[in-house]
Amino acid sequence: MMIPSQRHLFDIPEDVAYFNCAYMSPLSHVALAAGDMGLRRKYNPWKMFPADFFTESEATRAVFASMINASADDIAIVPAASYGTAIASANIPLASGQNIVLLDEQFPSNVYPWFEQAKAASAEIITIARPIDDQWTPLILDAINDKTGIVALPHCHWTDGGLIDLVAVGKRCREVGAALVIDATQSLGVLPFDVQAIQPDFMVAATYKWLMGPYTMGFCYVAPKWHDGRPLEEGWIQRGGSEDFSGLVDYREDYQAGARRYDMGERANFALMPVAKAALDMIMDWGVEKIQATLRSRTNTIAEHAKALGLGSIDPDLRAGHFLGLRFPKGVPDGLAAKMADNNVFVSVRGPAMRITPHVFNTDADVDKLFAVLEQEI
Ligand SMILES: Cc1ncc(COP(=O)(O)O)c(C=O)c1O
Repeated sequence: MMIPSQRHLFDIPEDVAYFNCAYMSPLSHVALAAGDMGLRRKYNPWKMFPADFFTESEATRAVFASMINASADDIAIVPAASYGTAIASANIPLASGQNIVLLDEQFPSNVYPWFEQAKAASAEIITIARPIDDQWTPLILDAINDKTGIVALPHCHWTDGGLIDLVAVGKRCREVGAALVIDATQSLGVLPFDVQAIQPDFMVAATYKWLMGPYTMGFCYVAPKWHDGRPLEEGWIQRGGSEDFSGLVDYREDYQAGARRYDMGERANFALMPVAKAALDMIMDWGVEKIQATLRSRTNTIAEHAKALGLGSIDPDLRAGHFLGLRFPKGVPDGLAAKMADNNVFVSVRGPAMRITPHVFNTDADVDKLFAVLEQEI
């Protein structure tokens, strides 16, 4: 099940210990070359044809769909996680007196749209406080009630990797008729996600973290029941028959099939789409389950060593395998991440935890370096 270190596919010098994919993953050599090729199309535009506006987007949409056990028709191409949550909030109805369930310290792109929607509808926001025992799922299941209209969650918490059982939450949402919206930016690509099992209404992931793709791209799953909804933009390519450039001013009422109506403007994105495609292909080649098993083993080893230094973390069963948030007895010391970066060890601090978020390019030597520097700084 384990993937041997894939360092050779990346440009990471031996003396750099990079444990910061929750912040920004590196592009692989292949993804960089794809970007170079993509950007050069605009250098020689006479080599670009109308079909190019469609073929690569469709191929990329299909790979993303296969990663989550969906159909390409269910996928919209978006520029950011916030665009996906905005599509969801523009389409899910909410009445006065209903509520929206969120987690404490959830990432803002999956919070602000709900604050605004709740304000507009005179609905209530229920924020679940961080559980002392790290068990989010029972608290979420308890919070969802007959008045819940929307449950907006991650798959794991972006500060410390605290894991949520989305299959159980999805079932509870269906029992009360609430819509489930997932921001999977901190897990998709490394933690298996099956839309048939979870049955979310919307799920979005930006590509620049665990999908190892470019910044300013993402994908949004839209469940078939929402395929007739209102897009955020009314562009040309999203409309029926847009493949025929000579007929674009024969204005039409109908849209392209499925979730394509929600695609962002200029979604063909000739520079970045090949980068996203190369990154998704690489992940599918490794296999998401294998990546998760490999990173779980890596973070478990780090957690054990950290425990011996008096640093805590969430129990392995209650956190995502790719994500470790280290807790310090008196809080994360000021300036620790910057001091570690000065020594070429890259981590980040969010909320109460120091995030250690590895990938398959990490080596045992990176872990040794992490602790050599950590022990010297604490
Ligand atoms: C959970 C989560 N969602 C989304 C994002 C990025 O959001 P956006 O694509 O809206 O900039 C981040 C970035 O840190 C994140 O941690």
